[in-house]
Amino acid sequence: MTRETWATRMGFILAAVGSAVGLGNIWRFPWVTAENGGSAFLLVYLAIVLLVGVPGILGEFVIGRRSGRNPVGALRELSGSRAWGIVGMFSVVTGVILLSFYSVVGGWILRYFVESAVALGTAGPAPYFTDPGPYYDSLAFTTEAVAYHVGFLALTGLIVFAGVRRGIEVGTKVMMPAILLLLVGLAVWASQQPNAAAGYAFYLSFDLATLRANFFDVLGPAAGQALFTLSLGAGTMITYSSYLGDDRSLPFDATTIAVLNTFVGVLAGLVVFPLLFSVVGEAGGSGPGALFVSIAGAFARLPAGTLIATAFFGVVTLAALSSSISMLEIPVSFLVDEFDLSRRVAVLGMFGVVTVTGAVNALQASLFSFVAGPLVDSLLTAGLIAFLLFVGWVLGVDALDEFVKGGGSLTESLSTPWLFAVGVVIPLFLVFTLLSSLGFGGL
Ligand code: PHE
Ligand code: NA
Repeated sequence: MTRETWATRMGFILAAVGSAVGLGNIWRFPWVTAENGGSAFLLVYLAIVLLVGVPGILGEFVIGRRSGRNPVGALRELSGSRAWGIVGMFSVVTGVILLSFYSVVGGWILRYFVESAVALGTAGPAPYFTDPGPYYDSLAFTTEAVAYHVGFLALTGLIVFAGVRRGIEVGTKVMMPAILLLLVGLAVWASQQPNAAAGYAFYLSFDLATLRANFFDVLGPAAGQALFTLSLGAGTMITYSSYLGDDRSLPFDATTIAVLNTFVGVLAGLVVFPLLFSVVGEAGGSGPGALFVSIAGAFARLPAGTLIATAFFGVVTLAALSSSISMLEIPVSFLVDEFDLSRRVAVLGMFGVVTVTGAVNALQASLFSFVAGPLVDSLLTAGLIAFLLFVGWVLGVDALDEFVKGGGSLTESLSTPWLFAVGVVIPLFLVFTLLSSLGFGGL
């Protein structure tokens, strides 16, 4: 059976941007930013996206395109050693763990979207408008959350089932423009709300003193957020680039993806913060449920709130779906490549597994918080360290060759510094953030 490839260059970029843009930008980013000192955090985060994220994406791309394989097959074949295959296995497991919590949040969002759309149809207020707090409690970590998780996972499975071209590529080609248009519309609308300026001020004002005082405390969370939002460390970017032809310039594509993801992230903040400040009067607390409660409460107090809420939760549902498909594609490509399973069987099997693992997350608040927070951050960081060491120390000159393909003289001159960065500097930095977030040595 010949392996699929992306039909168009735009298709690959949109799929990768679709993977990157997701709950990380809209749900996780605002509360992680708020918890870590607002704009001071934002700056460190942006620096890490540029200096670690872009070279990191390139590391995964080089592995994926060079091998044309899933993460396990890629590391094993390129190194000729089974031990590296086991390292690749670790990222397949990370992908499954990620999807097991992501699908739960995706399910929550799906319910808010469905309830908003139904209310729109009946011209009444959405049910969560009156009591956003109790409504959220009636959903999160109840059997209802399990049902919506399975619904969201089924949508994810359907797209992946249809294949790389007909499912993922076609799906993201439709979803990404829709997300962008709706977000721009929402940002313009939010700017018209009273007190929006206070939201911008909180989000964008840059305070050097706060940054200096917190610099080392925010490094870990900022790095975790940067990897999460760029879909790095789980092998997603290895998997997507394994369907890529040789004519593309990897550095160009990686930069485009990081820029577009950052643009959407900033745009999402331009929707969320003015909205919160205009109605709630503050950033809206911390923790995974905070945004649901405060945002939902904000919609309730605005004219045309139901319509806006439907658009907002519609955007978030699409953003979550275009990311969850990239998580599911990791184990699916592994099963298809390594065990010669058909895509159908692989998708059905993974649907069964994640239905169960996700249901456990959906019911257990404390387990969920651990998985969605420290566990995932650490797994992604450890995964990326392994991939980059592989590029620097196992691939070496082959990585340079892959890096410069399809590029010009600028690419050529960047290649050696890049290899040094991914082989030495970035892994050291990531080890430091990993240890500090695990709480070692009072870092
Ligand atoms: N980048 C996605 C988001 O921000 C999450 C993700 C992480 C997707 C890792 C794939 C791999 O929502
Ligand atoms: Na997405």
